[in-house]
Amino acid sequence: MEASMADGLENVIAAETILSHVDGEAGRLILRGRDLETLAGKVSFEDAVGVLWDGIVPVPADLRDALGKGRIRAFARFAPMLPALAGLGAVETMRALLAAMPDGASEPVLLLGAAGVAAAMAIRAEKHREIAPPDLTAGHAADLLRMIRHRPGDATEIKAFETYLVTVMDHGLNASTFAARVVASTAAGLSSAVVAGLCALKGPLHGGAPGPVLDMLDAIGTAANAERWIGAALDRGERLMGFGHRVYRVRDPRADVLKAAVSGLRHRSERIRLAEAVEAAALRALQARKAHRRLDTNVEYYTALLLEALDIPRHGFTPVFGAARAAGWIAHAHEQESGGRLIRPQSRYIGPMPTEAA
Ligand code: COA
Repeated sequence: MEASMADGLENVIAAETILSHVDGEAGRLILRGRDLETLAGKVSFEDAVGVLWDGIVPVPADLRDALGKGRIRAFARFAPMLPALAGLGAVETMRALLAAMPDGASEPVLLLGAAGVAAAMAIRAEKHREIAPPDLTAGHAADLLRMIRHRPGDATEIKAFETYLVTVMDHGLNASTFAARVVASTAAGLSSAVVAGLCALKGPLHGGAPGPVLDMLDAIGTAANAERWIGAALDRGERLMGFGHRVYRVRDPRADVLKAAVSGLRHRSERIRLAEAVEAAALRALQARKAHRRLDTNVEYYTALLLEALDIPRHGFTPVFGAARAAGWIAHAHEQESGGRLIRPQSRYIGPMPTEAA
């Protein structure tokens, strides 16, 4: 009997996990038995990683220190590679740097530190800007923010950035996590799984959406222009970046966490007012035109505003997403390696069959 097919693997359960759960009907994200809201904005990135990895990935007693050492080792490894990568985009550079991490010898904490450093170096390198080395004594969020911008953040900025990193750290079996698990299921190794995750994250339908969200806000310009601009974009058959999700049928809970975080940053009120007006107009238009599919605001919408408020350049949005999600890819790869089978689905052949020889 032929197996049934699910386009885009929608509603297919392809793994069992204790790491995170996306409740698309209730708009809830659960990480290791806790609601996202009890972690994001409440604990450091290191503590959140400790919660996510507990019992799955070996966690050193002093994770902050080990992560700092990982950043320093990765920086030394990556710095000589940069000249050969000139001309690549930021995600491509980050991909090339991470691909230089050996599979067997890269322990998880080193890889997580490397993902952060690779993101920061790739963001600086795209604009040919100088990059300062990591600071062993700093927290991961504070150090990445400083490296990316070449100036340190104040306490409010660091907290907002840390809230972002924790918020996007893991999210069920999203496309990049699935890619990482597929690679891990072949026993290829941890670095390969992380690189696979980053490759899947690169696309605008997954991790590449927040840059285009800002392009949309810039093009709309004023609240009064929102309805007309959005109507015209949908008439052209375009998708509105920052809206819609494969699993959430209600508002993405991460959008609210990030909106609260960006509201705490200075001088953002005008941009937020425009974003709220555009969001309201977009939701009205999507409801009217796509009544058959419940489309709501997703994580990328307020990610864009938050990262912009932190002066992180648009070409850096996907790399910083990857630096955070690497924590999830590593955890899922370990979980897959320790209990899962080779992931190997089937395709349905719809091409021609050979004709009988005349
Ligand atoms: N703007 C306009 N229409 C959208 C839309 C959007 N952002 N997202 C989905 N739709 C529409 C599709 O056009 C389609 O309409 P149709 O049935 O009339 O053809 C319908 O909703 C279903 O789309 P589908 O592509 O099957 O949904 P999906 O579950 O495969 O896609 C996303 C999920 C996230 C890829 C999709 O919502 C999207 O492209 N969003 C914009 C990019 C984005 O914000 N990505 C970040 C995700 S966190």
